Amino acid sequence: MTDDLRGAAQHFPDPYRLLIRESVASTNDELQQLGNKGAEDGLVLLALHQSAGRGRRGATWFSSTDDALAFSVLLRPTEPKALWSRLALATGLAVAEAAESFGCNAGIKWPNDVWIDGRKVAGILVEAGHDFVVIGIGINVNTSTFPEEIQHLATSLHLANGRPMLRSEVLSAIIQRLAVRRQQINHEFGELLDAVRQRCVLSGHQVSMRTAQGSLTGIIDRIGDGGELRLQTASGIQSLIQADEIRILD
Ligand code: BTN
Repeated sequence: MTDDLRGAAQHFPDPYRLLIRESVASTNDELQQLGNKGAEDGLVLLALHQSAGRGRRGATWFSSTDDALAFSVLLRPTEPKALWSRLALATGLAVAEAAESFGCNAGIKWPNDVWIDGRKVAGILVEAGHDFVVIGIGINVNTSTFPEEIQHLATSLHLANGRPMLRSEVLSAIIQRLAVRRQQINHEFGELLDAVRQRCVLSGHQVSMRTAQGSLTGIIDRIGDGGELRLQTASGIQSLIQADEIRILD
């Protein structure tokens, strides 16, 4: 079977559509520009080659050109802006569910890294514009070798389930799940949260992390009802809406 990335859009639900660029620095940057020019909800921008992919906290995102997917989705949510940050959870869940549909046992490392077998398979970068959100997704599909500095941290769908996959099928599976989960950031947030909690790889573990209040260690209680991470520390429960460099210690 050929990997027809353009054909993936045939399996997108309405109103999602696909724009493929040969090479861009960052699909998030490119799509933000299109968003500022009025691009409509559901535009997916995929780069065959991404030369300066960005991760969270200004990190560089590595994606192997022929084996990975690097794309961004423009959404114009109708929900109140205060709820848009929940799209990070919705997207992590959508990617995990897509991975599961290919036989992988995926977990979510709050807020939205997708893990398989303790290694990262996908990263998500959500950035809000004035009246839109750009969701960048990088997922290792058939990647089998990684740069040395991340090879002990990264995996791919192919490494996890032992068979090569069509990137076009992975792309359409993610968009299909995102189309469902993005609609649950308001009234059905409880349902979204339950599905995220079931896949949370941090719950019950002793962790260290960097937060706005400094470094913290403790045991992850659970994801709270607003989507925040609840950390049991020596001085009580801390509710965190942002945390970086979360490391599992046990
Ligand atoms: C992370 O885990 O730190 C987030 C990584 C996000 C990478 C994707 S690849 C497509 C999109 N374009 C970017 O520049 N970044 C995101």
